[in-house]
Amino acid sequence: MAGLTTTERGSWNSKLGFILAAAGSAVGLGNIWAFPTKVATEGGAAYLLIYLLCTFAIGFPVMAAEITIGRRSGKNPVGAFRDISTNKFFPLVGLWGVICGVMILSFYTVIAGWAFGFAFEEIFYFFGWGGAADWLTDTGNGFKNAIIATVFMLGTIKIITGGVSDGIERATKAMMPLLITIIVVMIVYVLLQPGSAEGVSVYLLPDFSKINANLIFSAMGQAFFSLSLGMGALITYGSYLNKKENIPQAAAFVTLADVGIAFLAGLLIVPAMYLAQSQGINISAGGSLASSTDLVFQILPALFHTIGGGVGMLLGVTFFLLLSIAALTSTISLLEVPVSYVIDEFEVKRKKAAWSVGLSILVVSVFVSYFPVLIGWFDYLFSSIGLPLGGFLICIFVGYFWKTENAINEMEYGYAGIKQTLFSKVWPVFIKYICPAAILYNLITNFI
Ligand code: PFF
Repeated sequence: MAGLTTTERGSWNSKLGFILAAAGSAVGLGNIWAFPTKVATEGGAAYLLIYLLCTFAIGFPVMAAEITIGRRSGKNPVGAFRDISTNKFFPLVGLWGVICGVMILSFYTVIAGWAFGFAFEEIFYFFGWGGAADWLTDTGNGFKNAIIATVFMLGTIKIITGGVSDGIERATKAMMPLLITIIVVMIVYVLLQPGSAEGVSVYLLPDFSKINANLIFSAMGQAFFSLSLGMGALITYGSYLNKKENIPQAAAFVTLADVGIAFLAGLLIVPAMYLAQSQGINISAGGSLASSTDLVFQILPALFHTIGGGVGMLLGVTFFLLLSIAALTSTISLLEVPVSYVIDEFEVKRKKAAWSVGLSILVVSVFVSYFPVLIGWFDYLFSSIGLPLGGFLICIFVGYFWKTENAINEMEYGYAGIKQTLFSKVWPVFIKYICPAAILYNLITNFI
């Protein structure tokens, strides 16, 4: 980081700052767009169960590892590996993370744009401006996709140029409780409707025969994506973290917040899908629950419209605005990874780094806007494979190169007496054996 001042890199304002920003990174489209669709189409409660297992048994330990690497080094993912170990291979792992971040961000902004567009769709629909509403809901309209994705990317760049603390901390603090409240209100509404019961049982009563290698692979990728793991986002956020912070506790909080919101989103959307179906509302693929990138965006507006009147519109607008903010706090972290890399490694000023990296990614986003089929491919390659692969290599790094004892020493700064806790006995076992073995097994069976 030679030549850079601390203000150029930034740091969190308050103890809560890091937790809010990391939770803001974790909670996003993964929870509300990806998770419910995957649960509904790939095994219902069986999927939920495996997802929870992946989150707590693999995601949480890897999260603690990433944050610790970040805080120890105070660097971007590439610099962090170089700083901690002399091994020449691991900086490439950081670089792979930067690439995953770039590629995920390129399609993430397009979907975030859909969410943002739907906030206005609710208003247009309410006032009977059908033409404008239809234009906004057409997820296949490349021009519209590109315009809103551009707005979203410019907003992300603007916040990143201002540094990591203020904007993110404030946005997340307000967004999280409101988002939970509105989801809970909607859950109550949906569950009171006849026709949603089947969705509830699909979501909560596991059919174990549905568990197979594909389901486990998908749930693992989803856990990594949702927790923002495997690409160094939390190495980067950890690099701005104060030594006084208790890392295992922060990781636990972020994991619980993320899982909690995903669980609630599933409890809202899966029953709502069945409700919509029972009412004959035409949803993707001719009314079947086929997997689709925009399935959730068909179910939710239909739901808000059936509530009708001003209430439906108000709920709809608020929900989609909150979802957009949730997506924004995630795009911020996705962009911060390559930006911190450019700032540290090429000694570029934050503002210049943010604009040049952000606008380059926007070019890919515009391409994705016109070819939404790319979303599925990029998601498979960079989220489902890329992130667990990154997580696997992070485990190998901490377990066998840096060594878990050194990581525990780093955690001890904010957690006096950690060496006497169960965590310090169990966590190394997960990082050295359980997580890498489980991830590798899953990646291999996916290819076989
Ligand atoms: N966790 C975000 C979500 O669930 O929408 C997506 C994401 C953000 C993935 C940051 C990876 C990342 F580094």
